[in-house]
Amino acid sequence: MSERLRVAMPKGRIYNKAAELLRAAGLPVPPEGEEGRKLVIPIPEANMEFILAKPVDVPTYVEYGAVDIGIVGKDVLMEEGRDVYELLDLGIARCRMSVIGLPGWQPGIQQRVATKYPNVASQYFREQGQQVEVIKLNGSIELAPLIGLADRIVDMVETGQTLRENGLVEQSQIFEITSRLVANRVSYRLKNKEIQTLCDALYQVIGSPAGL
Ligand code: PRP
Repeated sequence: MSERLRVAMPKGRIYNKAAELLRAAGLPVPPEGEEGRKLVIPIPEANMEFILAKPVDVPTYVEYGAVDIGIVGKDVLMEEGRDVYELLDLGIARCRMSVIGLPGWQPGIQQRVATKYPNVASQYFREQGQQVEVIKLNGSIELAPLIGLADRIVDMVETGQTLRENGLVEQSQIFEITSRLVANRVSYRLKNKEIQTLCDALYQVIGSPAGL
């Protein structure tokens, strides 16, 4: 583990929201793209180093201790099931995980559900006592019920625009999603002071001690 506190940031839709929060907490994290395609951004004045990872990989870097802490959506945490210590609900990138289908959907004999989150979907339907075949896709999930690949999908809903524009409806909500600050369990003990200082600075910005 490096001397500097190493932080994994998710590239893409969460990055700028997370960077804004960190800047408000006093850390000069650059906006996405400002450093070109660099994947490691040192911030020596804060004795920190930010790495830019694919969101789905953030819990992996954290579990293995390649980074000390990371910022990641609850959707990814639930799907990946990595052994990380969830420190703080950052309250950003709020959306929900839902079951979605065409209006008037009726359960057929064979049910197929397409999703980027096969573990989440399988667990949900198992708990509901529903037997479904889960099909893993990697994006544009809303296509699946439109062209008959699956009856329903399990996906993230933020504004609901994608559903509306594709004539789909939410059938049920599985859980709420926000971004979380997570830590490697060993780092949390060895670098407790640095991690706690960052958490305290973030509490100030978020407005309440939303520790988990
Ligand atoms: C996500 C998600 C939905 C959409 C929801 O897709 O999978 O399709 O955003 O947002 P909305 O409710 O505000 O419309 P993303 O943009 O990440 O792309 P993807 O289809 O490649 O997964």
